[in-house]
Amino acid sequence: MRVLGIETSCDETGVALYDTRHGLLADALYSQVAMHADFGGVVPELASRDHTRKLLPLIDDVLGEAHCGRADLDAIAYTAGPGLVGALMVGASTAHGMARSLDIPVLGVHHMEGHLLAPMLEDDPVAFPFVALLVSGGHTQLVAVEGLGAYRLLGESVDDAAGEAFDKAAKMLELGYPGGPAIARLAEHGDPTRFRFPRPMTDRPGLDFSFSGLKTHTLTTIKALRDEGALDEQAHADIARAFEEAVVDTLVIKCRRALDDTGLKRLVVAGGVSANVRLRERLDHALTKRRAKAFYPRNRFCTDNGAMIAYAGAQRLMAGEHDDSAILAVPRWPL
Ligand code: KG4
Ligand code: ZN
Repeated sequence: MRVLGIETSCDETGVALYDTRHGLLADALYSQVAMHADFGGVVPELASRDHTRKLLPLIDDVLGEAHCGRADLDAIAYTAGPGLVGALMVGASTAHGMARSLDIPVLGVHHMEGHLLAPMLEDDPVAFPFVALLVSGGHTQLVAVEGLGAYRLLGESVDDAAGEAFDKAAKMLELGYPGGPAIARLAEHGDPTRFRFPRPMTDRPGLDFSFSGLKTHTLTTIKALRDEGALDEQAHADIARAFEEAVVDTLVIKCRRALDDTGLKRLVVAGGVSANVRLRERLDHALTKRRAKAFYPRNRFCTDNGAMIAYAGAQRLMAGEHDDSAILAVPRWPL
């Protein structure tokens, strides 16, 4: 089965073609990051318009790269949510229109299920069951995954998502958007011993997260240094380092706890923040000691992309699922 995947939930237009026998045939991505950077975050109206402009050319690119015509498609999968409703509607309407004209099945996929299954596109794919840490701009969740669609929420952020915290801290340090990669780059030059930021909710049992206090702590530190006239370049780097250390430490502690609680030995880390190098190093180290193993998507598939939607859609379509005639665009949708 050849499945076209379409992702338009936020600020990346992603398209991919996945073949259930031959794997990923082609994928293409257009990022709107540069456009939104001027505004310090994603502007929903502009995102929808840009998806409209880019989606059809990207579909042509992917089909061209795979030497396929539209008639070679067996099904179409699109991100039905969660996300920005206008942005979602672009992908959803295009998918339904194409599927109807080609008379093939179409299926709306949960964006986070896409992230969750993304490591299965790698050469050493993870097998069920596993624990998944989903860390993106909108979500921070720990999930026990028994099989396709068998997801049990173990814990989640009670306020900001980890990626959102990175983005907000970056804004405070005037690093621009998206903040995660910018903080990570600056943190490399930071002194890890100068500041120690809190590791929220790690001193009590449970698998929930909270990142808003860390945000306040960052702001207070910046203000104090500014008042002292000590907010120089090195201070920026030291704050970035302390912030990154605190987020990474918190995530590692909760992942260890989730593996202990479930008795599972495999951990999937996915979503934009899973691209963070320090997080990967620290998790790999912690898991080796436990004879457990972490699985990540390749860098390109950590952030939003069409390949994860094509893959997740293909799995569900093979299980016989598809949409009825309704176009799905669900801004808030639990996994
Ligand atoms: O999964 P994603 O592309 O979009 C959502 O579904 O939210 O994740 C984007 C988030 C942003 O908050 C971005 O700052 C963060 O992932 N991110 C990172 C890194 N790369 C992206 N955070 C920390 N370190 C990184 N290297
Ligand atoms: Zn995402």
